[in-house]
Amino acid sequence: MKSCSICLGKLAGEEKYHAQCIESLFGTPTFPILDVDLSSLYRLAATNMAGKMSISGTQEKACLTLSPDKSILEVTANGGRYILKPETSRYSSLPQNEQLTMRLARLVSIEVPPFGLVQLKDGATAYIIKRFDRLDDGTKLPTEDFCQLAEKRLRDKYDGSAELCVRTLRKYATEPLIEIQKLFRLILFSWWTENGDMHLKNFSLITKSDDICCLSPAYDLVCTKLVIPDDHLAMPIGGRDRKFTRRMWLDFAEYCQIPPKAANRLISEQIEALGSALTLILASFLSDLMKEQYEGFLRENTAALEG
Ligand SMILES: Nc1ncnc2c1ncn2[C@@H]1O[C@H](COP(=O)(O)OP(=O)(O)OP(=O)(O)O)[C@@H](O)[C@H]1O
Ligand SMILES: [Mg+2]
Ligand SMILES: [Zn+2]
Repeated sequence: MKSCSICLGKLAGEEKYHAQCIESLFGTPTFPILDVDLSSLYRLAATNMAGKMSISGTQEKACLTLSPDKSILEVTANGGRYILKPETSRYSSLPQNEQLTMRLARLVSIEVPPFGLVQLKDGATAYIIKRFDRLDDGTKLPTEDFCQLAEKRLRDKYDGSAELCVRTLRKYATEPLIEIQKLFRLILFSWWTENGDMHLKNFSLITKSDDICCLSPAYDLVCTKLVIPDDHLAMPIGGRDRKFTRRMWLDFAEYCQIPPKAANRLISEQIEALGSALTLILASFLSDLMKEQYEGFLRENTAALEG
């Protein structure tokens, strides 16, 4: 049975996506034409767009814009509504890994923008995500990542901690207690999925049109341990970056001022997500070996949470 390259649900026929999933990503039931291949993407990124890209990050990526009739996705230097992250020779199956991990985040109610997998003209695979910092009329919502908010230099993005992120929200969020609870859920999930790359630039604060400052929808969620076997957390929690126990998560919840009852509920929700997560792993586009490894990580971390 084939899986939808957006939601990982079952497909009845030969198509690659559910029509309603394409609709949720592009606002039209027909998948737009993406007339670009991997080599021209890299060439574009290296030439015309060098220095003009409005998005940073270590991985090669391109901004895409949807034509007014929604039939074509075009590479653009500025202001695109989508970000495309193509496969890379450096790390195996990164688009498939990110698509699955972002899909898993929804199991524990982490807000994520619409995203999916796409095939380039030459058959290469890429991950595409809709920007959360642009409204449909093109208005840009003010967004700052936690590296900027903590007044650190870009090269110090790994020089953070979970506690620094909590303090950042305490200082800037309109409703700190609500946002810190969302942050706790995101950090817990990132650990559970063995994400060793959640540095300060992978958390952002967004100011919505009603002037509410809150944690942005999640992005860049990847199980890095599948490609870096000895990876551990990018930012420590309580001074530690590995071997977490339920007790340590409860201690971090206390730092977050999350009441014990709510903390236990958040941890239970993560534990209860295991069954559905394993189904999604099986339906994903990772290799059988990576599926098996991902399953092993989630089983082990769930057992640690059960205490
Ligand atoms: N959906 C989105 N909407 C708006 N901005 C986004 C979105 N996804 C990512 N960004 C911005 O683009 C930057 C780079 O994206 P992302 O973190 O996915 O790339 P990366 O190259 O994998 O990053 P890293 O350097 O962490 O490996 C992010 O730090 C964030 O500021
Ligand atoms: Mg990033
Ligand atoms: Zn679908």
